[in-house]
Amino acid sequence: MKRLQLLLPGPVSLHPEAELAQALPMINHRGPEFRELFKRVVAKLQKVFGSEDVAVLTASGTGAVEAMLVNFVAPKEKILIIQTGTFSDRMAKTASAIGAEVELLEPPEGEGASPEDVDEALKRSGAKVLGVVANETSTGVVQDLPELAKVAHERDALILVDAVSYLGGHDMDMEAMDLDAVASATQKALMAPPGISFVAWRERAEEKMKALPKRSVYWDLESYKKFYEEKFETPATPAVSVLFALDRSLEIILNYGLANWIRRHKAFADAMNFLVESAGGSVYPKEGWRSNTIVVPLLPEGVTPAQAKALAREKWGIDVGGGAWKLKEKSIRIGTMGWYGEDAVYRALSFLAELYGGDVEEAFQKYKSSL
Ligand SMILES: Cc1ncc(COP(=O)(O)O)c(C=O)c1O
Repeated sequence: MKRLQLLLPGPVSLHPEAELAQALPMINHRGPEFRELFKRVVAKLQKVFGSEDVAVLTASGTGAVEAMLVNFVAPKEKILIIQTGTFSDRMAKTASAIGAEVELLEPPEGEGASPEDVDEALKRSGAKVLGVVANETSTGVVQDLPELAKVAHERDALILVDAVSYLGGHDMDMEAMDLDAVASATQKALMAPPGISFVAWRERAEEKMKALPKRSVYWDLESYKKFYEEKFETPATPAVSVLFALDRSLEIILNYGLANWIRRHKAFADAMNFLVESAGGSVYPKEGWRSNTIVVPLLPEGVTPAQAKALAREKWGIDVGGGAWKLKEKSIRIGTMGWYGEDAVYRALSFLAELYGGDVEEAFQKYKSSL
């Protein structure tokens, strides 16, 4: 099989050590080797999230978001969700499916929500839960989490965050940002294979969870906490091979330095945005609302996403994502997550220059000087 450099909105290319870790011999998930592995992984996740309570679920990101909602939103309760694309739509669908009453707030085109608009919507709706997709993978729009947390708490609401494509690519410190619960997954900026996801939470959310009726067995976060505290295990059989790889990936990221890791995503995203815009093209998110992990260029007239993706694969050896949500037919999405070297950055910039024109050398120097 030809090895393609993945520059997708996820999954991502892995570091070779993480790839190999998946082939380690299977271990008993109720035995001492597993407990050691799991302790190591959870300790690293606690650092990455900035929270003590992290449940490790065998599910993709959608499962973690569902687990977060089913534990922290009461049946029939109102939840205000900021609608910026496919994944906020999915959060809304999930909230409805678990019996919540959903109110949507749509920010202006290409922007996240302003604290003033969120405050007004919380006041109007009376919702005591705010649902936010921190980094909307379908449109490349990021939200200002600390500001939103402040507004939510002033209105006595919890803030629940989908950080599936945000964690590892943007600053995250749940305590400093005062976030109540955050869901994320392995296969994006944490550079691990798909199959595991997480929910981390803090005191306010825990208090609410304890007061709510249990509506799920598999997603009962209290059971994950209890199993961890009492045995360093998970309630059901976890995806052990994914955990082997995640252990390596997190080690590599923490050794690289979390701040450096985040900077690397931003440097790559900034260089691509610069190249497109300096050549007269445009990207969807407005300045100030741009993702570090997903770049969303609007395609030049006459170029389809399928043509652009084929050019990237066949000529430049990079696999990029197609458009999504209402940008499906007019954009592509290039991820800056996972394992890649300078050559992949250069190829991505060259690919964009073939579509838009622009100075590859200048954009590449910009990348290198921002690392
Ligand atoms: C922001 C966001 N939320 C949720 C999901 C769903 O995650 P998964 O595909 O792992 O279920 C994704 C996947 O791309 C995502 O980017």
